[in-house]
Amino acid sequence: MLRSVLMSVAENELIKDTALAIPMTKSVVDRFVAGETTEDAVDSTTELVSKGLLVTVDHLGEETVDEAAADKIVQAYLDLISQISDKGMADRAEVSLKLTAMGLSLGSSGAQIALDNARLICSAARNAGTTVTLDAEDYTTTDATLGVLSDLRGDFPQTGAVIQAYLKRSEADCRDLATSGSRVRLCKGAYNESTAVAHTEAHQVDRAYVRCLRILMEGDGYPMLATHDPRLIAIGQDLAARTSRDSDSFEFQMLYGIRPEEQLRLRELGHRVRVYVPYGLDWYGYLVRRMAEKPANLALFLRGLVDKK
Ligand code: FDA
Repeated sequence: MLRSVLMSVAENELIKDTALAIPMTKSVVDRFVAGETTEDAVDSTTELVSKGLLVTVDHLGEETVDEAAADKIVQAYLDLISQISDKGMADRAEVSLKLTAMGLSLGSSGAQIALDNARLICSAARNAGTTVTLDAEDYTTTDATLGVLSDLRGDFPQTGAVIQAYLKRSEADCRDLATSGSRVRLCKGAYNESTAVAHTEAHQVDRAYVRCLRILMEGDGYPMLATHDPRLIAIGQDLAARTSRDSDSFEFQMLYGIRPEEQLRLRELGHRVRVYVPYGLDWYGYLVRRMAEKPANLALFLRGLVDKK
C-alpha cells in the first residue's frame, strides 16, 4: 500500500520535471547510478571486478518511442560490450537490457523489432565472450518478453531470463525455465501491479519468492538470486546446501549502491556475487523504483529537490 502511494507520488509529472531539470549530481542519484557515459559504467565495472565481484551493466532507458531511438540504444550496448571486451572483463561482466528500450512497445511489429535489436546485442555479446539478460518489466510485457527470450535462446541459449516472484504466474514460469543451462534471475518485482496479477503484501511476496527459489534451486538451471533481503539470502544459502549445489552453479545479485558490504561478505564466503550497474541519462524510472523500495530514499531525494530551489 505505502509502496504504491510512493510510486504514485514519485511518478507525479511536476516532481519528475523538477527532478529532470537538475544536473545528475545529486547524491541520491549518484548512489544508485554509475554515471552518464559508457566510460562511467566501465570504470564502475572495473572497480567492482577488482574486488572479486561480477557485474551486469544496464543502459538506462525504457519505452522507446521510435525505431531510431531504439537503434541508438542498441549502439550504446554495442559500444559498451566492445569496451568491456577491450578491458578483458567479458568473462566477469555481462549486460542487462529492457525490451521496451529495444522497441517492444512500437505497435504490432514491436516484438519483432525488439527481437531483431536484442539479437544484434546477443550476437555481439557472444562474440565478445559474455552474455545478455532480459530485464522483466511491467506485467503487460511479460508474455512478449518470455516469447522473445524463447526465440533468442534458439541461437543464444545462454540468454538470461528474469522472473518477478510477486507475479502469480511466476511459479509456473520458474518450472518452465528450470532447465539445463537456463540462467534465471529471480527478483521480487519492482512495478506497481494490481492484486489481480500480483501478490502485493510484502509477506506474500517473500513467500512467493521462496516458492520460486525452491523450484529454481531444485531444478537444472543456473539460478541468480537477485535480492538484498537478509532472510532470503540465508534461505538461498540453505537451499544451495540442501540441493548440493556447487558455488559456481548459482549466484547472488544485488543493485549498484545497495548493501555493498553484504556483496563483499557473500563474496568472501566463496559465493559468486554480481552487481547490477545502471548508467545513462534516462535514470528517472529506475530511481523511482528504488525510492519505492525504501521510503528513506524518497525523503532524501525530495529534500534534494527542495534544497536546490
Ligand atoms: P526488499 O525490498 O525487501 O529489501 C531488503 C533490504 O534490502 C531492505 O531492508 C534494505 O536494507 C535493502 N534495500 C532494498 N532496496 C533498497 C533500496 N532501494 N535502497 C536501499 N536499500 C534497499 N525488478 C524488476 O521488476 N525487474 C527486473 O528486471 C529487476 N532486475 C533486478 C536485478 C537485480 C540484480 C536486483 C538485485 C533487483 C532487480 N529488480 C528487478 C528489483 C527487485 O524486483 C526489487 O524491487 C529490489 O531488489 C528490492 O527487493 P529486495 O529483494 O532487495 O527486498
